[in-house]
Amino acid sequence: MKILVLNGPNLNFLGRREPTIYGAQTLDDIIHALQQQFAGRVEIAAFQSNHEGALIDALQQAAIDGTDGVVLNAGAYTHTSVALRDAISSIAPLPVVEVHLSNVHARESFRQTSLISAVCQGVIAGFGADSYHLAIEALLHLSAKEA
Ligand code: DQA
Repeated sequence: MKILVLNGPNLNFLGRREPTIYGAQTLDDIIHALQQQFAGRVEIAAFQSNHEGALIDALQQAAIDGTDGVVLNAGAYTHTSVALRDAISSIAPLPVVEVHLSNVHARESFRQTSLISAVCQGVIAGFGADSYHLAIEALLHLSAKEA
């Protein structure tokens, strides 16, 4: 099973960015931990970009390179990007799980709207770095059910 963990804007600053909200781990720490936790079970590729178009390119690439599922933390683009939503729709049936480190529903009202949730397989938010782990488990469950 091949999963892409895709991260959007400002997530490259994890560790130094508002650690009381997003935690002390860097994005590299999180990815390495996932690769260790799922070693032998899941091949985890990771990509981060601050640019909307690069995230869209990565989603389209995942649709043609044999990726089985995508874990997507789109950062602030979650709340603004019709283009990202269209990209997720365009790669169906490839499942995309929307993740957030923080519980976006407990924060500012503008974070409580997601333009992408409706076209994602599901949403996991509020568990810190464990949100990524739970999203990968969810993709594994999904593929086991489909097999
Ligand atoms: C975030 C929540 C978003 O509202 C915010 O813009 C981020 C991070 C999260 O992981 O909690 O960049 O996606």
